[in-house]
Amino acid sequence: MKKVTVIYWSGTGNTEKMAEAIAEGAKVEGIDVILKNVSEASSEDVFDADAVALGCPSMGAEELEDSEMEPFVESLNNEKIKGKPVVVFGSYDWGDGEWMKNWEERMKGYGANVIAEGLIINLTPEEDGLNKCKQLGENLAKY
Ligand SMILES: Cc1cc2nc3c(=O)[nH]c(=O)nc-3n(C[C@H](O)[C@H](O)[C@H](O)COP(=O)(O)O)c2cc1C
Repeated sequence: MKKVTVIYWSGTGNTEKMAEAIAEGAKVEGIDVILKNVSEASSEDVFDADAVALGCPSMGAEELEDSEMEPFVESLNNEKIKGKPVVVFGSYDWGDGEWMKNWEERMKGYGANVIAEGLIINLTPEEDGLNKCKQLGENLAKY
């Protein structure tokens, strides 16, 4: 069965809500959907999947969360990510989305097939944002 994997870090639950909606959107017939907090994930979860969504809010100063997500993303810099369909997503507050642009470019630099623009949502996702997340999940399920 084809596998879509969603891995995220979330401090106050906003990015987690996005992750849940992406996973829900990906749940179509014939797709095995795996949703994991990064604390429970390994790089093999990414390398094994047919398509992957990675989520993290903007932290630090337009950075990934540094104790768990940053080292996890670093661990994906491997031959096995080459050509892998990947999207990145996350919640933010006052910034302009710089962390997401940088993350997207980083994944491209690793050789991942970044299939859509990084999805960013200001603070808690509302219905409109959750629908965008679901659509992204549906899109991932096609790979
Ligand atoms: C330590 C810390 C640093 C943050 N840095 C930024 C930032 O640089 N840019 C920004 O837009 N938001 C920043 N935020 C706001 C978070 O991205 C925002 O609250 C987001 O909704 C948190 O998502 P979460 O609920 O998934 O943890 C920061 C929040 C915290 C706690």
